[in-house]
Amino acid sequence: MADTTSKDLGTELEELLEVETFDPPEGFVADALVKEHEPPADAVAFWAEQARELEWIREPTQALDDANKPFFTWFADGTINASVNCLDRHVAAGLGDRVAFHWHGEGGEERDITYGWLLEQTQRAANALRSRGIEQGDVVGIYLPMVPEVVVAMLACARIGAPHNVVFGGFSAGSVKERMEFSQAKALITADGARRKGKTAPVKSEVDACMGDLDHLETILVVRNTGTECEMDADRDVWWHEALEAAEPECAPAELDAEHPLFILYTSGSTAKPKGILHTTGGYLTQVAWTHKHVFDLKPEEDVYWCSADVGWITGHSYIVYGPLLNGATSVMWEGGPDHPHKGIWWELCAKRGVTLFYTAPTAIRACMKWGAELVQEHDLSKLRLLGTVGEPINPKAWLWYWKVVGGGRCPIVDTWWQTETGAIMVTTLPGAQHAKPGSAGTPLPGIDVAVLDDDGTEVEHGTQGLLAIREPWPSMLRGLYKEDERFVETYFSKWGKDTYLVGDAARRDAEDGYVWVIGRIDDVINVSGHRMSTAEIESAIVSHPKVAEAAVIGQADEDTGQAVCAFVTLEGDLEGSDDLEAELREHVAAKIGKLARPKRMIWADDLPKTRSGKIMRRLLRDIAEGRALGDVTTLRDPDVMAQLEGKVKEAQADGEG
Ligand code: PRX
Repeated sequence: MADTTSKDLGTELEELLEVETFDPPEGFVADALVKEHEPPADAVAFWAEQARELEWIREPTQALDDANKPFFTWFADGTINASVNCLDRHVAAGLGDRVAFHWHGEGGEERDITYGWLLEQTQRAANALRSRGIEQGDVVGIYLPMVPEVVVAMLACARIGAPHNVVFGGFSAGSVKERMEFSQAKALITADGARRKGKTAPVKSEVDACMGDLDHLETILVVRNTGTECEMDADRDVWWHEALEAAEPECAPAELDAEHPLFILYTSGSTAKPKGILHTTGGYLTQVAWTHKHVFDLKPEEDVYWCSADVGWITGHSYIVYGPLLNGATSVMWEGGPDHPHKGIWWELCAKRGVTLFYTAPTAIRACMKWGAELVQEHDLSKLRLLGTVGEPINPKAWLWYWKVVGGGRCPIVDTWWQTETGAIMVTTLPGAQHAKPGSAGTPLPGIDVAVLDDDGTEVEHGTQGLLAIREPWPSMLRGLYKEDERFVETYFSKWGKDTYLVGDAARRDAEDGYVWVIGRIDDVINVSGHRMSTAEIESAIVSHPKVAEAAVIGQADEDTGQAVCAFVTLEGDLEGSDDLEAELREHVAAKIGKLARPKRMIWADDLPKTRSGKIMRRLLRDIAEGRALGDVTTLRDPDVMAQLEGKVKEAQADGEG
């Protein structure tokens, strides 16, 4: 990695690499919400107590119900509404004028979004949805850029009990169609266009190009965002602003069971078909609110919080929308990425808004390291008091840079381990109570039972690598895969039975303090810049190109993005690989899935290593791509394939270096 930081800083970081544990900074501990990490004797009772912080319509009398494992439920006889908890109760407490989001647009626009405004807009949007025939239980898709309307759209769905299905704006319209189809969505909320790095990209017209034949999709609501021209189908499409203007400003919240679905969020699995992770209401809100407050040490009256994720990922759902709003926080919401209009924009905004709590991904920190410490240091970040990371293991060097350059050595860092499936943070450090170790996420939170097991389900000794597992149900756990009960049980609860959740990550714990080190995925899921991708999904996109006979995709270690997509491609007939064809295939993948899935490297292979039963051995491909000695090749149908591929990889490397 190019080191553009000053020599002093470089030397200092080298020295810090020797330090294994960082105690919570004294200045921080004095006012910390939690000063001791005390696992409760009774986890279920602990969560029941936390649930009381929410405003229930009917208080639950029971917490966990495990009668129908692994379909656990929480607070099932309570009734609640998520939008009331996020908005009405703050407005009723006189906080209508409190800013929920300082929204900043790419072009310098600013909007202060108050709790009062959100409540009014949410009610109007809820009425607009109802007037288009959306009823409790109907799925509503949301495909929007990072504009305040995305929050309104989500909460409007929550108000009437219509589970939302948000699709990340970086996914292609084809992916949106697929997700609308899988979830049988009745409506979609999207925009005319999106701003991306100073340019305008059409959104609605792209959606139109592939959405046509979904008969269940009766309505498309279109937010006018960029003024980009688009056609409006008189029967199906309606402008968001017109629909909201025409709607009544008050909408009584639906009284929903705690187990009513709040949202579906599609994420990548081992097969090409994404998994529709289903989250329900009461348990999800309980754990998200508790973790957001205690892991980030949130003091809503004083703090300005910023999570740099996109709402289209679970991090955005839990820690941009629901967590912060449940806690009455004031957040920054930034429309763009970290490098436009310039590479110091995040820090400029942090200084401008006096951000105190900042939450981002290791990949972004590594990018900032590359751009140089000066871009951070020229801004006044003295208000920052806590930093967080999520999405992938953080390498100690990036951790230390974050700690020193961004946090000025006075801010604790919380490395939060969790997943789309867990809904909320599971393993981390409580910043005022526990030391941090660069590279380790920390310990299971109070009320969470995470362990490292062997294949038989026995806990391995600390220090030994094994499989990460969750042994007791937790409130914000996924309740299933949308309309795929069998796949749910098979994926998560078949390895060790119906009590123990298989995470899909390998990990080990330290002997002295049980700190968890997450090593990476054990399945064919890869992690590119903290974005979860399925190798099978990318393979199937590549293979759908007429010139391709076969493809195998692996995640290759990458110093910027953690892992990078590397594709081995076999072409049809006598076709020869070329740079043009590589570009064509990359574009093909972008159109099918989204730009983030485009292979960084493509290797033309005459054949792929397969077992005698025809299964591609990705393990061997990973070995070659990362220059390791090859493992056992005796089970291969044709062991010569490997020699040929090794030659190709070396050629590609030589080309790349030359
Ligand atoms: O492999 C782990 C990694 O990201 C996976 C979950 O991805 P996703 O569902 O997209 O959710 C990402 C944001 C919560 C995990 O199985 N992962 C996430 N956070 C960490 C992590 N790996 C190491 N350390 C983390 N803090």
